[in-house]
Amino acid sequence: MKEHLTVIDHPLVQHKLTLMRRKETPTSTFRQLLRETSMLLTYEITQDLPLTTMNVDTPLCGMQAPILDGKKLALISILRAGNGLLDGMLEVIPAARVGFVGMYRDEETLEPVEYYCKVPPELDKRLVIAVDPMLATGNSSVAAIDRLKEAGANDLRMLCLLAAPEGVARMKDVHPDVPIFAGALDEKLNERGYIVPGLGDAGDRMYGTT
Ligand code: URA
Repeated sequence: MKEHLTVIDHPLVQHKLTLMRRKETPTSTFRQLLRETSMLLTYEITQDLPLTTMNVDTPLCGMQAPILDGKKLALISILRAGNGLLDGMLEVIPAARVGFVGMYRDEETLEPVEYYCKVPPELDKRLVIAVDPMLATGNSSVAAIDRLKEAGANDLRMLCLLAAPEGVARMKDVHPDVPIFAGALDEKLNERGYIVPGLGDAGDRMYGTT
């Protein structure tokens, strides 16, 4: 059984995360760092994708060269902050199909409310990677994964920038079959459901809203 949580502690990821955490980091820099980090995270989350070989002719000779085998990928952005991770992922996997699940967090109850869902067909035949930068209470991730399973997904992974222990535990409780990959596991949630130390509201940081 794979680890439920994999922390991607590559030095470049850690370095960029630190810069993103700084409250002085401006929106444009934050976005650029997020794009770079998501490419690195994608590299790690796809490490075990199966390969096959195909015949190619190089200018010198023919060879059997490796190429990705098996299921096609679907990347599902949990709106809105998921889009910040998605951009960099698509640079690395341009052929992936993309879907969106719109969840906002009711600030009183901290419960997720779905307002949009559009996903690629045949999710049951794809490796599905759900992306949300902040795994906080886990409520929206759990609800989004519920939705994706309803739509047929049966091979799922979750990618985030920062995770809180509470969110990881909740995901493990409800969706133990969905491994989580994160740039860091932070200390805790505060009373408003924000990850501490965290980086603030990821959507606000990447889009310059407050
Ligand atoms: N969502 C965010 O953007 N930040 C947090 O700290 C928690 C949830």
